[in-house]
Amino acid sequence: MTDDDGQLEARLEAQDVFEPSDAFVSQANVSDPDVYERFDAEWPHCWEEAADLLTWESPYDQVLDDSDPPFFEWFTGGELNASANCLDRHLDERGDEAAIEWVGEPVDEANRTYTYEELHREVNEFAAALREQGVEADDVVTMYMPMIPELPVAMLACARIGAPHSVVFAGFSAEALATRMNAADSEYLITCDGYYRRGDPLDHLAKANEGLADVEHDTTTVVVDRLGPNGDDFGHDLGAAQHDYGDLVGAHAGATVEPVTRDAEDMLFLMYTSGTTGQPKGVKHTTGGYLSWVSWTSQAVLDVKPEDTYFCAADIGWITGHSYIVYGPLALGTTTMMYEGTPDYPDRDRLWEIVEAYDATQLYTAPTAIRAFMKWGTEYPDRHDLSSLRLLGTVGEPINPRAWTWYYTHIGDDSCPVVDTWWQTETGGMMITTLPGVKKMKPGSAGPPLPGVDVELVDAAGEPIEPGQAGYLTVQKPWPGMLRTLYRNDERYIDEYWAEYSDVDSDDPDDWVYFPEDGAKIDEDGYITVLGRVDDVINVSGHRLGTMEIESAIVGVEGVAEAAVVGGNHDIKGEAVYAYVITEDGYEGDETLREAIVAGVEDAIGPIARPEQVVFSPDLPKTRSGKIMRRLLENIADGEEIGNTSTLRNPEIVADIQAQVTE
Ligand code: WT7
Repeated sequence: MTDDDGQLEARLEAQDVFEPSDAFVSQANVSDPDVYERFDAEWPHCWEEAADLLTWESPYDQVLDDSDPPFFEWFTGGELNASANCLDRHLDERGDEAAIEWVGEPVDEANRTYTYEELHREVNEFAAALREQGVEADDVVTMYMPMIPELPVAMLACARIGAPHSVVFAGFSAEALATRMNAADSEYLITCDGYYRRGDPLDHLAKANEGLADVEHDTTTVVVDRLGPNGDDFGHDLGAAQHDYGDLVGAHAGATVEPVTRDAEDMLFLMYTSGTTGQPKGVKHTTGGYLSWVSWTSQAVLDVKPEDTYFCAADIGWITGHSYIVYGPLALGTTTMMYEGTPDYPDRDRLWEIVEAYDATQLYTAPTAIRAFMKWGTEYPDRHDLSSLRLLGTVGEPINPRAWTWYYTHIGDDSCPVVDTWWQTETGGMMITTLPGVKKMKPGSAGPPLPGVDVELVDAAGEPIEPGQAGYLTVQKPWPGMLRTLYRNDERYIDEYWAEYSDVDSDDPDDWVYFPEDGAKIDEDGYITVLGRVDDVINVSGHRLGTMEIESAIVGVEGVAEAAVVGGNHDIKGEAVYAYVITEDGYEGDETLREAIVAGVEDAIGPIARPEQVVFSPDLPKTRSGKIMRRLLENIADGEEIGNTSTLRNPEIVADIQAQVTE
């Protein structure tokens, strides 16, 4: 154990409650403890406070329309445009201030600053170009792009003309792109030639084109030239319905596009996320409720102020980037950072170098990243002056107290509150976390629900549980940022999120309970510790993956008869993919098959879903009725003691599998 470890251990022993500093509280956007009581008393009108952060073209006439649960509507009758809220309204006061500070991966490349004026200009030009390409209000435009500034430009350009976007994470495979474009009948794709990973240009257009080949309808594509001459080796020529982004924008230089008036309930975007079945779910978010929610939480929880340089190190390909790199920060008129690369290239201090160079005021990242920083050691942050930081945040998976305390000590220098924010793609924005200017912090616990958010922990029967016990998270009342439905699938929306704890035949909104499919514990102070998913979804490095999706990729590989995928504990990633595979007669569970399985998963989903271990076995532990005992496979992955196996049809298989799972 190094000295640092010793100190951390001592601190973990000594302190499990932390108070925000007076210095932080005195400047916090929200510091009045009465906010909780007030929001409860005023609910749902408390959310007018969120809507008031936006500029409305016409005011809403109802805060909440709950006449047709669970199809709740917020701020109905109101009209607004998200791009006007993120850009136009800031021009007078903040036109020359940076909207986006973009840092590319190559260190020797010039970084880019977009002032609000410049961002507004490019968004208008691209909006004009998209219109010329035929994009109309309500056409779904897919984006398959890495962390380059043209991604938020494209999102805002779509928002400007009322076209919902569907951003597909650039690390997803060609097949995943095609599935999402087909599911949404999306006829437009915006992508790029490539981007940098660890110093090397990576061919992205090849993957995009491969995906397009599987799209069932005609498509128009716009390609951003990210790599310039460094992409020449890929030898790409644009196809017939493919246009160069620079040419399109250039052809519309100086164009302005009036923001299209959108109803509060009009769709702003779709985001596909993994669920229990193989088919990804198209989560639908709306203009008024979503934008209010991410704006309110950005200012109340992340303490964002216009003069800040706020840094969220997530990827815009996931909901965190949508809500807390693009929409929330820009709606508030602050400076939002974007970083193209990974934290350890060219060295393990890259993030700290960026924080120092830009005087970042907040850092919002995932526990998996913090655990990696911790493993790399304090020498990297210690090389840099991080004193510009005022607040730290984490999201995506449970954070262990040790990682929390390390983050608080070594990145926050004991003076920045840490907000551990629980939420989901479906919730649009944060739901459970401490208000940093009001609440004490408990490492490992996200905290109480936000004011006005009615979270309750229940048992399997839906009865509230006692402090100290574990149960299921539920949300008992609707909130403005909630998903409105699953795209073109109202039935699945009800099944997935409401059926478990609601009286689905009731018209009374109080009979409808949202189920996020997470387990959690609650303490005497009402602080909630989220334990993780209770469905067949696993969380690898904060990325949500459906085990069914991975399984179906694996059984698609020649030589595989059956497969079961579970999440096993992993020091850095939180969870890792463990695949248990039965081979077909005549096939060996050898290195060749293992490689084919890994390639099959990468092709179907992407490298993020790559199995940590593939375990071949002549059979899988099954109940007498033939159900695979996944829990047991999880225990094996975690190297845990296996209890009673007498209910198994084939208990003898367990030792065999255990022997194969390496440390
Ligand atoms: C799932 C949602 C929220 C944006 C990124 C992930 C887990 C999220 C926390 C947290 C414990 C967390 C939950 C949730 N999760 N934040 N602070 N503590 N668990 O969004 O891909 O929709 O995944 O991430 O299990 O259900 P997502």
